[in-house]
Amino acid sequence: MRKQSRRIDSSNSMCQYGFKDSSKVIPQECSEDDIWQTMQEEAKFYTKQEPILSKYYCSSILSHKSLETALANQLAIKLCRVNLSREALYDIFLKALVEDGNIQCAIVDDLKAVRERDPACISYVHCFLSFKGYLALQAHRVAHKLWINGRIALAILIQNQVSEVFAVDIHPGAKIGHGIVFDHATGIVIGETAVIGNRVTILHDVTLGGTGKVQGDRHPKIGDEVLIGTGAKILGNIKIGENAKIGAGSIVLKEIPAGATAVGNPARVVGLSRDKSKRALL
Ligand SMILES: CC(C)(COP(=O)(O)OP(=O)(O)OC[C@H]1O[C@@H](n2cnc3c(N)ncnc32)[C@H](O)[C@@H]1OP(=O)(O)O)[C@@H](O)C(=O)NCCC(=O)NCCS
Repeated sequence: MRKQSRRIDSSNSMCQYGFKDSSKVIPQECSEDDIWQTMQEEAKFYTKQEPILSKYYCSSILSHKSLETALANQLAIKLCRVNLSREALYDIFLKALVEDGNIQCAIVDDLKAVRERDPACISYVHCFLSFKGYLALQAHRVAHKLWINGRIALAILIQNQVSEVFAVDIHPGAKIGHGIVFDHATGIVIGETAVIGNRVTILHDVTLGGTGKVQGDRHPKIGDEVLIGTGAKILGNIKIGENAKIGAGSIVLKEIPAGATAVGNPARVVGLSRDKSKRALL
């Protein structure tokens, strides 16, 4: 029997990490069952198209009963190592995924976001199995849950494995909203006190870091629907307002207002628009 779609209460949602005026984004419907059904169909199609890959699609998608078990399996395969077994990791990931409705919602919202906003993504299964930005983010969501529950050693171990395997280094303390795209993802670094809102797109080689001069709350706060181009470095506890665009290669040291386009080193505002239809495509 198919499960009901879940409605996540805003008070218990990562959506809270958006800025205050982000009430429009919550609550949101998570049609996990529809996506999981579609992924099964996609996997069957690819199996038919490439029979040589039938074992791969069977073990990674078709043999699973839910998106959560498939994701726990995929993360465990990618992140295990000699002294950190696949079975142990599978148990850790699955427990977090089945316990936490907010993560369940996020893994669906992120899949949808990649499918909708990355023209290179040909299917949900393509993203789920092959996009390391997506996988690194879901591993981070589990590490963050462990971090806030005081399981620091395990959280940091997952961060380190994700960094080694995917070249994406997200401190487990960082708070990240829903509907996120980490495109290409190689070289993304996100510091401990960074906060990222909803529907944010971040390209490869982006740093959300500290200035090196301040302790405590020292990392950027990124508003909803921000685009951060490849190679951009955003340093310090500064706010990037919602719908802002940060140009590739920019070094941002000061707050950027909502809807602004900022480019260069140091970044300067070169445009201002609240019109979402003018958002840059990847
Ligand atoms: C900034 C960006 C989002 C465009 O935003 P926009 O609001 O549409 O801005 P425009 O294209 O109108 O450019 C505004 C000005 O900024 C300049 N500019 C744009 N991007 C820039 C960049 N990355 N660095 C320096 N200047 C840049 C433009 O030349 C233009 O200058 P001008 O007014 O003197 O002609 C886009 O240029 C960008 O950098 N996207 C990132 C894409 C990316 O990372 N791709 C990697 C894919 S693998």
